[in-house]
Amino acid sequence: MTTNVLLIGSGGREHALAWKIARSPVLGTLYAAPGNPGIATNATIAALDITDHAAVAAFCADKRIDLVVVGPEAPLVAGIADALRAEGIAVFGPSAEAAQLEGSKGFTKDLCRRMGIPTADYARFSDAEAARDHVRREGAPIVVKADGLAAGKGVTVAETVEQALAAVDDCFAGAPDGTEVVIEAFMEGEEASLFCLADGERAVFFGTAQDHKRAFDGDVGPNTGGMGAYSPATVMTGELIDRAMREIIEPTLAGMRAAGTPFQGVLYAGLILMTTGPKLIEYNARFGDPECQVLMLRLKSDLLPILLQAAKGDLASCRPEWHDDPALCVVVATSGYPGSYVKGSEIVSLPEDDDRAIVFHAGTRRDGARLLADGGRVLGVTASGATVSEAAVKAYAATAEIDWPQGFWRTDIGRRAIDREDG
Ligand code: GLY
Repeated sequence: MTTNVLLIGSGGREHALAWKIARSPVLGTLYAAPGNPGIATNATIAALDITDHAAVAAFCADKRIDLVVVGPEAPLVAGIADALRAEGIAVFGPSAEAAQLEGSKGFTKDLCRRMGIPTADYARFSDAEAARDHVRREGAPIVVKADGLAAGKGVTVAETVEQALAAVDDCFAGAPDGTEVVIEAFMEGEEASLFCLADGERAVFFGTAQDHKRAFDGDVGPNTGGMGAYSPATVMTGELIDRAMREIIEPTLAGMRAAGTPFQGVLYAGLILMTTGPKLIEYNARFGDPECQVLMLRLKSDLLPILLQAAKGDLASCRPEWHDDPALCVVVATSGYPGSYVKGSEIVSLPEDDDRAIVFHAGTRRDGARLLADGGRVLGVTASGATVSEAAVKAYAATAEIDWPQGFWRTDIGRRAIDREDG
């Protein structure tokens, strides 16, 4: 008995998921929508408007889809999982209500307060003047977060009161009624990401990673969706992982169940490691991008049965297995990203995927035989090795072979882990 899958999404994360699912011995046919040229090498692209939930449900009935896997947050927050489940279709991904863990920072902070989950002190404001007063009272450093989805860019860590006041003004400028900001105390420590798969009742640990949010080497420049990542995050010891699961993940799932919005899908916790232990910075309700690329390279187990078990509330016996080798991903972006950039430049050639590295497509499209850049983050060159340092050497060697003059990348992905390896 095989499993037909529809994968929703078109980024590097979804290419990595497609690459892994395509290797499953229990896969029937893998479809993807909207997909991209990289995903098209692993899946049949379905010409579907993913915002038309009725059309997606009809496609699933027609193609006898056994599981829909939703990659990005926007369709989740828009309720695609609810609409498909209402038609009896198994979906890996949370309901719109549960996706508020990512979609609303205020929702998550309130849950943390109710459940005693360690996180920064905070206050929510829908009034700009009250928010400004709070900033003046608390002083800097202080963190200002726009409520709602912001593709990883709605957070300002303000080092001065002036910066924080400007961030508050930015959040409210031209914003519709009901707009909120969350203002948080600044937390000091190293950041790491922890991933779990949840089936509504329970969570299964699904790896750690660290990403590089700033655009340029040395962690300078504007925030991006992520310029590279590696896994595992060596700073996350077994003890820290156990504490994060016990003190953060499990109470979160319990709180979501108690609120009548059980969480099923990927729970991606952004953590800060303080001297007193791990604290939650924020949740995402999906795999990280490019963190997914490194997790998929490291995952030894067949992903597809695990996603099905999660979708069916049946993760009790799930014990994912991992390769020992760490993995690292270098994101290649269009010059100008995350500011303004020009789409449509030609990617003249890419290295062949081989044992050394895999090039996951994020923002590409085909124009006849030509491959064009079609976004800010365009490619994710991903490799594994006996050490993070070896994985980096392999990923950077493949990156250097890309013939795309408009592309740029950071040259220091994995720096913290490599420094640790070097002692
Ligand atoms: N790489 C960060 C994110 O996926 O949100």
